[in-house]
Amino acid sequence: MLPDPPKSLLHRWATPVQVLLTLGLYLQLSVLGGLAAAPGLYGAWAVFDATVAWPRAARAVALAMAGFAAYFSYAVCIIVVVGAWRLLTRAASPLGRFRYYSREGMQWASYNALILLVRYTCINFLRVTPLLPLFHRLMGMKVGARVQINTAVIGDSNLIEIGDDTVIGGDVTLVAHAAERGDLLTARVKIGSRVTVGLMAVIMPGVEIGDRAVIAANAVLKKGTKVGPDELWGGVPAVKLGARGEAPSEAT
Ligand SMILES: CC(C)(COP(=O)(O)OP(=O)(O)OC[C@H]1O[C@@H](n2cnc3c(N)ncnc32)[C@H](O)[C@@H]1OP(=O)(O)O)[C@@H](O)C(=O)NCCC(=O)NCCS
Repeated sequence: MLPDPPKSLLHRWATPVQVLLTLGLYLQLSVLGGLAAAPGLYGAWAVFDATVAWPRAARAVALAMAGFAAYFSYAVCIIVVVGAWRLLTRAASPLGRFRYYSREGMQWASYNALILLVRYTCINFLRVTPLLPLFHRLMGMKVGARVQINTAVIGDSNLIEIGDDTVIGGDVTLVAHAAERGDLLTARVKIGSRVTVGLMAVIMPGVEIGDRAVIAANAVLKKGTKVGPDELWGGVPAVKLGARGEAPSEAT
């Protein structure tokens, strides 16, 4: 842990500064979200104009469908808009250990806010489709071929690597940061190829998982845990339960 923070100006004014930054962030997210929503709104508007003479019930159906189509159009467009914005600004989670109220802390928060814009508006419709790996790739993650991701809860994408044919199960928490005792620490997470990460498992910063390993449902892999290739890990905190070609009881 770092020594107690000196009472810097930023520390003293942390809350008003955070309010101002939050408002600035809302403005930025409004621009990005608005750009992504515009094509769908344009289409829905066209349907609105084209159906003026229709009977009310038929028009209601057409407009409701156009509204849903506009939402799905937003879900696809926001990936591209946010990804392009990240490339333009080079936003990323920084590596290391730092104070919440620091330049790195703000960098971390503003990068992850981009991910949250997608997570809180439409990510559940992107789960288990190629669009979700594409989104994380655009956010800086190294993602292999045919990876299936069935969770919304991924942060710090630029610090995460996932190999080919890996499955990230339903509602897994996959993050490369931890807030601890006043500090924020980040470390790269590396998941190999053909790995199965079970339902609702928690993967903490610095975790490495070898090829073909299986992580049991609900397992919690503590910071820095190293799982070897072909191993089976489970529990809270997770321990090795076995390995391919080895009975579970033979595990140490
Ligand atoms: C861990 C898992 C692979 C074990 O399945 P299995 O190979 O058929 O083996 P078993 O059910 O015989 O369990 C082997 C051992 O692991 C233990 N175990 C099984 N699931 C566990 C879990 N979620 N947490 C902790 N221990 C678990 C069993 O108690 C058993 O221990 P024992 O030998 O001391 O009795 C399976 O339970 C699992 O969690 N799979 C994840 C599937 C998943 O979520 N996929 C994601 C997409 S749906």
